[in-house]
Amino acid sequence: MTTDELRSKYLDFFISKGHVRIQGKSLIPDNDPTVLFTTAGMHPLVPYLLGQEHPAGKRLVNCQKCLRTGDIDSVGDTSHLTFFEMLGNWSLGDYFKEGAIRMSFEFLTSPKWLGIPLEKLGVTVFAGDEDAGRDEESAAVWKALGIPEERIKYLPKKDNWWGPAGTTGPCGPDTEMFYDFGKEPCGPDCGPGCSCGKWLEIWNDVFMQYNKTAEGTYEPLARTCVDTGMGIERTIVILNGKASVYEMDIFIPIIGGIERAMAACTAGGGYRYGNDPEKDKSIRIVSDHVRSAVFILGDPKAVSPSNVGAGYVLRRLIRRAVRHCRKLGITEGPLLSPLAGIIADEFKGPYPELTEKLPLITEELNREEGKFLETLQKGEHEFEKLLPNLLKDPRRLMSGRLAFKLYDTYGFPIELTEELAGEQGMTVNRAEFDEAFKKHQELSRAGGEQAFKGGLQDHSQIATKYHTATHLLHQALRLVLGDHVAQKGSNITAERMRFDFSHPLPMTGEEIQRVEDIVNGQIRRNLPVTMEIMDLDKAKESGAVALFGEKYETKVKVYTIGESGTGIFSREVCGGPHVERTGTLGTFRIQKEQSSSAGVRRIRAVLE
Ligand code: ALA
Repeated sequence: MTTDELRSKYLDFFISKGHVRIQGKSLIPDNDPTVLFTTAGMHPLVPYLLGQEHPAGKRLVNCQKCLRTGDIDSVGDTSHLTFFEMLGNWSLGDYFKEGAIRMSFEFLTSPKWLGIPLEKLGVTVFAGDEDAGRDEESAAVWKALGIPEERIKYLPKKDNWWGPAGTTGPCGPDTEMFYDFGKEPCGPDCGPGCSCGKWLEIWNDVFMQYNKTAEGTYEPLARTCVDTGMGIERTIVILNGKASVYEMDIFIPIIGGIERAMAACTAGGGYRYGNDPEKDKSIRIVSDHVRSAVFILGDPKAVSPSNVGAGYVLRRLIRRAVRHCRKLGITEGPLLSPLAGIIADEFKGPYPELTEKLPLITEELNREEGKFLETLQKGEHEFEKLLPNLLKDPRRLMSGRLAFKLYDTYGFPIELTEELAGEQGMTVNRAEFDEAFKKHQELSRAGGEQAFKGGLQDHSQIATKYHTATHLLHQALRLVLGDHVAQKGSNITAERMRFDFSHPLPMTGEEIQRVEDIVNGQIRRNLPVTMEIMDLDKAKESGAVALFGEKYETKVKVYTIGESGTGIFSREVCGGPHVERTGTLGTFRIQKEQSSSAGVRRIRAVLE
């Protein structure tokens, strides 16, 4: 079965069960203060899992582009990926445990759908603790469906509880489905959930019952929901009897491209994947990282490589891929962009935007690669000079201050120093490096690093206020600067908001003042903020601003600030949440207006 076939089957199955297909969202989320990338299908659905009504109804299904960087250092083995596609179905106050499990079981085992033999499946359920009881209900459903008792494992919170994705938000016990590769058990306790390689998790049904608050307590949700996630790549692996995600249909042409690039260079030779574990690892790293970089650069909300936030992750992916290309003996550049064409082609069905943006993706990859090759040469040369001394240390520990010097003087990333040290059997004193790094870097850069692993948006009161202020600012900018102003990005933390918009020139002091005055004027009017669900066409007709390049459902939520009697100030297609009246926002102040990229300006503002 191919990836495209699995995607279609999943969507068809759940549509046949009364679900509405919703669009997958951008890889770079909107208005999320603590998250850099969408890390699960549920991310864009958080407000609905917390109780809001979804325009498409109570049963939803989709395929969502996701990126997880928490395990980036494990990429290179046979199962970890940074970018992946997650298939998911949701019940928003509709079916719960039994309904979800029965549908999962039917999709997995029915010959009409995936046809996985019953004896290859095992499951885990929540063992229970002080927050929620032992999940006998789910276990009973699995038993009734024919899963034998010894293949149902009860595991604690660290294994069988999902969410919140960040620090706060919806969460609950889950039941996970595993495929048995048929290997010998690793010991008497080996069962579904064991990480010895016998079992592979393919699907997770989460029973969203709680909202974890900032205080760390679990508040029961007003209505229970189901959130599920099936990894496309892993499922394809088992359906095709493969041992690794890199053997699946979409990776074969990418690996072929790397082999061809190696063959074209003397140092690369005529290598074929599967013959040398070290080389294979590098090939897998290049394949994964370039795929992720292409999806980030091809996203409607694409970022460029930079030293902060999502741009930093992108930079790191590109740079690590370049280094592994060189390890493979690929010296004739451009190294990465030829692979981008292969990837865009592989995904042209579900993600045609990659092909449309290929010239831009190519340009960005080439530019970053060029910059990095210079850095690399200098850094590696310096490391080699240090090596004889480093090898004298019996603890095999490289000083963090020295690693920081390589970073500070030559821009040599710590991850690469760690890799070079690792190749010599050494480790870097990371705590010492981090300390030096913190001392020297601006707060913002440190912030980017900390947010690296991501977390979920905090739907706290303050984030909600900033969210509404974003709409006011957007409209005020259009009034002062003109209708060409369009939102290009937005980022909210508990301390401030940042707003990127298209405008060719720096704003004048007077323009900034006028925008600030307009926003504060609308706050003082204490305008009501109301939401209405309507067809996308109707929404646009009604003058609602929709973000260019964003994929919307046919039915959308439209937030209006102001009333028709006294004057509507702003109307935008948006998922929310928002405050009920603008009067609660306080005073709006623009702290900074600066360039973000060509033709895009950035405003940093606070509510005081
Ligand atoms: N949100 C759940 C996961 O990512 C389904 O596993």
